[in-house]
Amino acid sequence: MSSSESFVTLATNDNYALGALVLAASLRNVQTTKKITILITKTVSESIRNVLHQSFDFVKVVDLLESTDTSLLEALKRPELGVTLTKLHCWTLTQFNKCVFMDADTLVVKNIDELFEREELSAVADIGWPDCFNSGLFVFRPSLETFNQLTQLAAKEGSFDGGDQGLLNTYFSDWATKDISRHLSFIYNMSIVSTYSYVPAFKRFGHQVKVIHFLGSIKPWYCSFNASTGQLNTFCGNTYAQEFIKNWWSIYVAKVHPTIEALNLVGPMSNMAIAPPPGSSICCTSQQPSTGDRFNAWQQGQIDYLGADSFDNIQKKLDAAIDNL
Ligand code: UDP
Ligand code: GLC
Ligand code: MN
Repeated sequence: MSSSESFVTLATNDNYALGALVLAASLRNVQTTKKITILITKTVSESIRNVLHQSFDFVKVVDLLESTDTSLLEALKRPELGVTLTKLHCWTLTQFNKCVFMDADTLVVKNIDELFEREELSAVADIGWPDCFNSGLFVFRPSLETFNQLTQLAAKEGSFDGGDQGLLNTYFSDWATKDISRHLSFIYNMSIVSTYSYVPAFKRFGHQVKVIHFLGSIKPWYCSFNASTGQLNTFCGNTYAQEFIKNWWSIYVAKVHPTIEALNLVGPMSNMAIAPPPGSSICCTSQQPSTGDRFNAWQQGQIDYLGADSFDNIQKKLDAAIDNL
């Protein structure tokens, strides 16, 4: 019944669409027998949509669902995540019996088709609050009834984190206690944060990982990569995280870049569309992380030793602060 089963992802802009293209290529690399579907909004550019049509079995344009709860989103320090409520549209894909939703910032390194043997709602515990599940990957059954109930709940009560994860955890509130078979192993949604928050466990179990989730504000597409040397150029995580970011980039270079390159893009994507001159980097998007993003990255142990967080820069900041006294 694989034709009535699909992986599903979401992109509301071109940057996340790029992540989604890498995710789809990674699923094909591990020879999935399932369909691959993407939900997009009108805010994804026409040229990227054409590329998505080549890479995905189904592309569905949906309306943007947005959380208006700015105070909650600010508390989460990720104001951009209000649009993640758009994820709820995955329940409208009723041409499928069962689906696995995956965030566009996930990467598959081993076949995960066995997830379709699980039931709604199966997911991995969130590392920030393990009684909640992380909504970066979950098994679900499309149903208009569920979609309507979820949107009604969102309208009535909002979401406690301003995004989809808070709402889904309220709706599927018995996930933590009811049925252990709905708890997926961490290997199906390994947050990159774990490579520095629990190094011994990562060393012990890391080789089993099947899905990496680049959770947090620093995404692989913010890191610059030297296609000739296969190395990352600046900050972007510890040694372990860097290996995964390099995996992401190697798929980007081999499978996605050739299709993007032909588009002559302008705007944020244009840097990525430039073919790398020998020995140079094909670089990150022009949207470099903001000061707030950098602060979050620092707190997560992702320190740009040679760039923004270099000793020279810190010294300059201290000098300026002293001068202002
Ligand atoms: N997303 C999107 N546009 C946005 C923000 C998020 O399409 O502006 C989608 C995308 O699929 C993304 C998911 O929502 O992977 C969840 O956001 P993100 O992965 O950034 O959240 P995190 O996992 O870092 O908390
Ligand atoms: C989480 C999840 C992400 C979700 C976001 C907003 O951090 O990783 O998938 O969209 O929260 O609720
Ligand atoms: Mn994510």
